[in-house]
Parts: sequence; structure tokens; C-alpha cells
Amino acid sequence: MLPRSVLGVVALAVLVMVGCEAPVLEPQVWTRECSYLRSCAPQGLDVGVAVSTAVLADPAAREAVLQDASVITPEWEMKMAALLPSRGVYDFAAADSLVRFAQGQGIRVRGHTLVWHEAFPPWLESETLERTQALALLREYIGRVVARYRGEIAVWDVVNEAFDAQGQYRPSPWYRWIGPEYVEWAFRFAHEADPQARLYYNDYDLEWGGPKLEAVLSLVRNLRLRGVPIHGVGFQAHHRVDHLPSSAQWADAFRRVRESGLEVSITELDIRVPLPLQPSLLQAQAQGYARVLSACRAEPACVSFSTWGVGDRGSWVPGFFPGWGGALLRDEEYRPKPAYWAVRNALADPRKSLEMSAADWYYRGSPLSFLSVNP
Ligand code: XIL
Repeated sequence: MLPRSVLGVVALAVLVMVGCEAPVLEPQVWTRECSYLRSCAPQGLDVGVAVSTAVLADPAAREAVLQDASVITPEWEMKMAALLPSRGVYDFAAADSLVRFAQGQGIRVRGHTLVWHEAFPPWLESETLERTQALALLREYIGRVVARYRGEIAVWDVVNEAFDAQGQYRPSPWYRWIGPEYVEWAFRFAHEADPQARLYYNDYDLEWGGPKLEAVLSLVRNLRLRGVPIHGVGFQAHHRVDHLPSSAQWADAFRRVRESGLEVSITELDIRVPLPLQPSLLQAQAQGYARVLSACRAEPACVSFSTWGVGDRGSWVPGFFPGWGGALLRDEEYRPKPAYWAVRNALADPRKSLEMSAADWYYRGSPLSFLSVNP
């Protein structure tokens, strides 16, 4: 298959040859020959899932990861509570095993997450540290973790969820000990440990616009102005099917990040539905997924699209949002759902952005239709 850039040049050449009277060419509509998500993703767009060692122990989940992911994010294994379970004692066993799995399969790893007020080690929570002590610990911790995976983990979520809904700094332990500059130091320390790694600020609810997005944008602009190494903003995107951002909201938020000089990743997408599952809501869910992916494909700065889990089995949603579930692209048995085919077709379509109903995607993308590819 010819890359899109080549097709673009050919189309342009044809236009020039037939002269200026030529009708404007419509983008070609065809589905690339591909089956599962990983092979359908266009060049330059990573597609991924969050995994845990527990989920990966299931052969069906493993198979699904191999079909779908060019990048994985450890769901728990690289959080501070997991890596530093007691004072001075690091435990890299589970994190290492995920990295080894990924490397063996040519899958990239997204490091997640160096600084977060949750998954914070209980032994550290109760400490009262002087500012200099806290900075020394932050440097030691980030340095140790990032250096361990230097050259193996190319992207890190460095700071997670620093702001509340009003755009105020959360009073996390790091904030209390160091002040708001803890964010800047975290990025500097990560860069010091791996100057090649791409470093992200990651948060939820940015896509709605409002005070939190404004706070994040003013933070990242300020960091960039002062030469602090930061490369991207991660949109977690945990949503509910009855309350989804519009295409315009996604596009605006992405554009504003780009205009601040950074790249965009969708880092933790899931769209939960009320239980028990109803087919009509699975269609709406498919539409919601397709909408995010369309916005990402239409945005030059959007480089990565990950869901927060491989399938509905093992998803964090039912435990954290009682009465809700079914949030992922695959079901409890890791079988593709309507949303899976909507995403697959949105990835496979060579047009950057798509305006199509989810039902259309679903039927075009049903398991049989990828056997009959229309060039
Ligand atoms: C969640 C995991 O899914 C759970 O298994 C874990 O116990 C808590 O964290 N935002 C994030 C993720 O950045 O790390 C969170 O993951 C979900 C919300």
C-alpha cells in the first residue's frame, strides 16, 4: 500500500495534469486491508491499552493485547505505591515483567505515572518532610525509576492530576512539602534521568474546557517559556455514555494544546454504560469512541490513542463507579464489541477525520466485512 503522503502527491499531480478546470477530488473512501487495531493504525498514531500483570496472565487477554496494541501502559505496576512499597525498598519485579513482555512483542511502553496524589505509598503519606528533603526524595525516586528504563520507555506521564476541577492545585503531599514548583522539578528530574524521553502532564476532564484546561495550559506554557522539558498533554478521557464531549470540544482542547507547543495523547479512554448492558447503549458508546478517534485523527498534534484496559473483564470501572461497567472495546471474554469495530474502521480509513454514524461503522466493520476489503 502506498503511504498517504505519496497518494497525496499523486492526487496533486493528477490535478495539475488535467488543469485548473478539474473538479475538486473527493477523498477516496476505502478501507485498508487490516484486521485488528494495531495493524489498522495509520503511521504516526500509536494505539494502546492499559494492562496489569494479572490481566496479562489470561491467555485470551494476552492475545487481545497482541492484536490491538502498539503501546501498553502499566495500570498499577509503575505507580509509586507499587515501586516503593516501604522506605528505601524498591520493587521493580512486576514493572520489569511488563517491560519484558512488551519488548518481546515489539510493543512500546508508556511509563505511568511518576507523581500522583493517589497510589501514594502509605508509609510516606504520614511523613512531614522539609522542602529540601522532599526535593531530594523526588529526585532520587524519579531518577531511579526513569533511569532504570532509559532507552526502553520513551514516554512518561510525569505528573498526574495536579489540578482540581476549579483549576487549583490539589493539596497533594508533594504540593504541601514543596509548593507548586514540585511540578517543574518533576519534569526536570525526569529529563535529567533520560534526556530522550517524551514527558507528559496527564489529567482528566480537560476536554470540556473550563478552569482545569485553562490551568493546565497556563502551566505548560509557563514551563515551556522557561525551558522546562515538557512535550505533551495526556487526556485521560474517562467518560460516561450519557455525557460525552462534542466533536468541537475535543477539537478545541486538542488545538489549544497544540498552540501551546505540545503534542496530545489520549491516555486512558473508557466510556462506561449503566449495567446491565443494553444494545442501544453499546451503539452510543461506539459513537462516542469513534468521535474521540476522529478528533484525534483530525488533529496533527495527536500521536497516541489508548484505552484504559484490554476488555471489560478486569476493568477498573465497576469497582470505582458502582452500577456502571462495559466501558471498553472488548467484552468480558475479550470479544470485540460494536465500539471495537467503530474504532477499527476509524483507524483504517485513510481520511483523517470521519463523519459517519456509529451504526454505519458498525455494519461496515462487522467481523466478516474485513475479509472483503474494497480497495
Ligand atoms: C486506576 C487503576 O485502573 C486502578 O486499578 C488503580 O487501583 C487506581 O488507578 N486515572 C489514572 C489511572 O491516571 O492511573 C487510574 O488507574 C484511573 C484514573
